[in-house]
Amino acid sequence: MQDIKFDFNNMMSFNVGNRDGVTEAELRRLGPSVEKCHRHFRSVSENPISRLRLNLEWLMLPFQDKKVVEEIQKLGDEIGRQYENVLSLGIGGSYLGLKSAQEALCAPYYNEFLPERQKRSRIYFEGNNLDPAPLSVLLRNLDPKKTFVIVISKSGETTETKAAFDVVEEWLRAGVGAHYGRQVIAITDPKSGTLRQKVRQEQEKDPLSFRALPLLPGVGGRFSEFNMGLLHLAIAGIDIQEVFAGAQAMARRCSSPDLYKNPAYMYAALHYLACLKKGKPIVIFMPFAELLKSTADWYCQLLAESLGKKYARRMKKLEDNSESWEADRRRAINAGRTPVPARGTTDLHSIQQNNVEGRNDKTVTMIRVQAFADDVAVPQGKGLLSEKKFSELLGLAQEATEWALTAANRPNCTITLSQISPWTWGGLLYFFEMATAFEGELLNINAFDQPGVESYKNYMYHKLKKPGVPQAVAEMIEKRPVRRQVKFVL
Ligand code: PA5
Repeated sequence: MQDIKFDFNNMMSFNVGNRDGVTEAELRRLGPSVEKCHRHFRSVSENPISRLRLNLEWLMLPFQDKKVVEEIQKLGDEIGRQYENVLSLGIGGSYLGLKSAQEALCAPYYNEFLPERQKRSRIYFEGNNLDPAPLSVLLRNLDPKKTFVIVISKSGETTETKAAFDVVEEWLRAGVGAHYGRQVIAITDPKSGTLRQKVRQEQEKDPLSFRALPLLPGVGGRFSEFNMGLLHLAIAGIDIQEVFAGAQAMARRCSSPDLYKNPAYMYAALHYLACLKKGKPIVIFMPFAELLKSTADWYCQLLAESLGKKYARRMKKLEDNSESWEADRRRAINAGRTPVPARGTTDLHSIQQNNVEGRNDKTVTMIRVQAFADDVAVPQGKGLLSEKKFSELLGLAQEATEWALTAANRPNCTITLSQISPWTWGGLLYFFEMATAFEGELLNINAFDQPGVESYKNYMYHKLKKPGVPQAVAEMIEKRPVRRQVKFVL
């Protein structure tokens, strides 16, 4: 049976003490807020207009029309079997979920070994950094005629992805000729943005080029893996319906207002209390599975961009009974917790020292996997490790980490997956999405925007002379440069 369990014994005071652990009484006292937040979250997520306006449409993604999904599965299958390479361009929410899927659900070293990837395309990710080195190497070595390009950008404006696509497009044109656009799919906003415009222009010239898949309205980047990641899953040969089945099962478990029946709400409530009442604003996210390394990166974006907010939220009921939210600029609260990606057992020889003996300002979330598709055993005659399976040793290391943290009064919790499969991975992503959204409710912030990301973008756009940077922002950039004194540079 496929299963996901959330064990929070070590977040509780009976294991880590009253000062660092949450008490049952504290959970009880949070009860009325939990109920109120549940009612509110329910009411906005059941209202289709609010859902769209507030970017809550991600809740519906696992329940998408089966036919649409079948078509994407078929299209991806064709691409995956036809092309030697797929180059996927995107950043943030247009990248991290895909990377997480590939690492979790495909064989390790997928790109290196043809049988491991069942004769499908190698898949490379680019456009997620402005570092010129990796893209240069790829374009020097890939054959453009054998490479399919997916460019993913909701806005179409993101510098990293746009710059990479501009380079890749010319490389493709030079290597393939006039019909290069038939080897491109754009995943972007269905109506607006420069990438959508480009799709329209190219399709006018050649209707078979620049095919496009829409991003559904009301879905923000980091909550969109079950939308913009689908083609990638299909190319890699992953069963999308299984991913959805796992997410649906989790959605059902996370619909109860009762903390003790709703694992995502409980995760949110415990970390809300740990941060605000126990001084734990940092979370170490430590899967004990190499395959979940990128899932840790995905989670870090989800948590940091969703909850790291300056202002509280002001909610407005509109005449049509829907709701809108805006930042309450009179109430700066600087909410958020700092996520740190790690992995067991590698980081037990690294940041674990600090987790156990450094400042007691963090929680640790571990992920444990019960059964692995492949296992290795130490040969006979090798002392105390003789005939021990790696999976057994890994499980023991996780248990030991739990013990070491708990003995030092360091709150921690463990999510156990029966195995890593499309079903459990789908459920895991949905669990964290729901937990993050609900923590946003408890904090009374907007978990679905990212205004803080704009400031670096605005600076770059201003320096690149891109039209549209607000006048006030441009003035502030000019008036308040970073001051650099020679004596402070050694
Ligand atoms: O969560 C988000 O919305 C962001 O991280 C975006 O995904 C990221 O900035 C990329 O944006 P876009 O898809 O518009 O290129």
